[in-house]
Amino acid sequence: MIDMLLHEKIGKKFLEIFNENPFIVRSPGRVNLIGEHTDYNNGFVLPAAIDKAIYFAITPRSDNLCKLISYDLNDTHEFEISKPEFSDKHWPNYLMGVVDQLNKKGFKLKGFNCVFGGDIPIGAGLSSSAAIEGGLAFTLNHIFNFGIDKLELVKLAQRAENEFVGVKCGIMDQYINIFGHKGNVLRIDCRSLEYEYFPFEFDNVSIVLFDTGVSHSLASSEYNKRRMECSEGANAIKKVYNEVNSLRDVSVEMVNEFKTKLDTVVFKRCKYAVEENKRLLDACEKLVRKDLVAFGNYMYRTHMGLSDDYEVSCKELDYLVEQTKDNPKIYGSRMMGGGFGGCTINLIENDAIEEVSKKITIDYKKKFNLDAKTYVTKINSGTSIIK
Ligand code: GLA
Repeated sequence: MIDMLLHEKIGKKFLEIFNENPFIVRSPGRVNLIGEHTDYNNGFVLPAAIDKAIYFAITPRSDNLCKLISYDLNDTHEFEISKPEFSDKHWPNYLMGVVDQLNKKGFKLKGFNCVFGGDIPIGAGLSSSAAIEGGLAFTLNHIFNFGIDKLELVKLAQRAENEFVGVKCGIMDQYINIFGHKGNVLRIDCRSLEYEYFPFEFDNVSIVLFDTGVSHSLASSEYNKRRMECSEGANAIKKVYNEVNSLRDVSVEMVNEFKTKLDTVVFKRCKYAVEENKRLLDACEKLVRKDLVAFGNYMYRTHMGLSDDYEVSCKELDYLVEQTKDNPKIYGSRMMGGGFGGCTINLIENDAIEEVSKKITIDYKKKFNLDAKTYVTKINSGTSIIK
């Protein structure tokens, strides 16, 4: 028998349960090349949508009931469209959060049937949650003909996460989920919310992720703490430089003036965020010149900043990055996403991937008694209709 694609399996499941043919939407996970913890500081990020995704099979109903079925967990959740209520099961909240936002905006929703599932590893920092939120917002907008534009969908999906799920994330993950473009990274300016595409396709080099397999519980409390430390720093700088509204408006020279005026920890956070913005802009120039060696060096520097100054790395991430150094076939490596676990992102020459992956997996197992997974990713388009 021919192997069915994941979205076909999800469509088939939908047909078996609801006895009708659904719309099928693909909603991708993401990587981020450089520009970490800069989005909520109004800075720049450089993400791309990837070939791992969540697939939605959906049809509208004529009543007000919503039936959600998680294909991967083999679990169901039902709710009244006007009354999405926080669930201890957790997974329905990413979907109900979107319904909640549409209700709040006054859109007249009917009920719907939905089967969803995918191959974005959970807890690996590839933004499966934004894929669920962005994907559902996109699909409901389509089937109910709301005419919401792409940027509004992004903001709505982000608010679903901030307000309903309760995670104070920035805008990067939802933005790239909707705006992703095959073969390109997006430089998003999180202050103006404008973006620019940069081709990122190389014959001999791939984006490879090494998954630590850990996701330390510190992640969300420390994330919120970093946000507060950055805004404390920006407020203090604003007292001297009134034009400063966020760390985005602060230059490297300016932040250094505050070395002894800010609390030591707050200074380190601010210094990292300000340097990271500059690093990203410099790295993009290298990208335009196809200079991956220089680009990769910026990735290593980002990792150093995240580990030493921003303090969101962990021993497993640091180890994986360390193992890539001194290999001329590896251009860059750093932790990716919020931190405290998840994946490192690496640029590796294709003919070296297998050997590097094998060695890293064996060494990592010896060191931590954990299995590191390897994902070789391709840059794909943002959320789109398949059928
Ligand atoms: C998480 C958040 C993003 C961003 C990154 C760090 O992925 O969801 O908004 O802040 O962490 O760059």
